[in-house]
Amino acid sequence: MGNGIAHVMARSGLRVMLCEVEQRFLDRGLETIRKNLDREVAKEKLTAAEAAAALGRIRGTLNRLELVECHFVVEAATEKFEVKREIFRELEGIMPAGVILASNTSSISITKLAGQTGRPERVVGMHFFNPVPVMKLVEVVRGLATSQATFEAVRDLAVRLGKTPVEVNDAPGFVSNRVLMPLLNEAMFAVMEGVATAEAVDEIFKLGMAHPMGPLTLADFIGLDVCLDIMRVLEDGLGDPKYRPCPLLIRMVDAGWLGRKSGRGFYTY
Ligand code: 3HC
Repeated sequence: MGNGIAHVMARSGLRVMLCEVEQRFLDRGLETIRKNLDREVAKEKLTAAEAAAALGRIRGTLNRLELVECHFVVEAATEKFEVKREIFRELEGIMPAGVILASNTSSISITKLAGQTGRPERVVGMHFFNPVPVMKLVEVVRGLATSQATFEAVRDLAVRLGKTPVEVNDAPGFVSNRVLMPLLNEAMFAVMEGVATAEAVDEIFKLGMAHPMGPLTLADFIGLDVCLDIMRVLEDGLGDPKYRPCPLLIRMVDAGWLGRKSGRGFYTY
């Protein structure tokens, strides 16, 4: 999602530093941004000059120390607490004291991430939705210590990006994934138990509930590894067996079938 976040920030006139862990991920991210900007030019949402200017506002780096120049950070790493903890601890040492550290986490506690830093009042959730250039929502998550000024800064930034911010309090999965993921997980149980095929389940949600994508197509789109990580955060954090990840989901992730990004999930791509 990091490339989508960089895309919408740059499109709205902000200068962006896109920090990755490996050159190939950086190259892939920049290539995706280029393609999606071209798509917006083709749809006449942007002019070619605006797209080129947006791309020109994005600078890639592999060196976190370079982030010291930035006035705001949004972390969008893998959905694993240990990975984010390491990043927040490092950012605490790099970023000047007044800088807000936001996380695009899908489910991990903002309060817990804030606790890794010496500035918990300046840590907040800024949760975007895929595809980021298209989806209007930003879930703005208040941790226990998030200050009103931090909340308002992120809310106003979301508006500047052309998004609609919705405020929620910190809880596992917030609102979006607490409700969405059990739906996707249950759809997987239905497939595993042979109640219907993936195609039939998806057809039911598209035609019967007017969802733009059926739950299994959506799970493939989000990434099955991400879905599993989120189910585990719900299961651990809420302690209710109803959040148990579907065994089929676990097996597919073990097999490296991660959905669209790996070429195979409930569908082949
Ligand atoms: N960048 C820029 N524009 C894009 C884009 C991208 N990556 N992907 C699609 N678009 C644009 C298209 O150009 C098109 O624009 P138009 O309306 O002006 O013609 C529009 O979006 C629709 O795209 P398509 O016509 O190609 O395809 P669809 O009509 O099938 O829509 C979709 C694609 C927008 C992805 C739609 O299927 C959809 O809304 N799906 C559900 C997505 C969803 O639920 N996202 C949330 C996932 S949960 C999440 O992200 C949270 C996380 O924590 C897990």
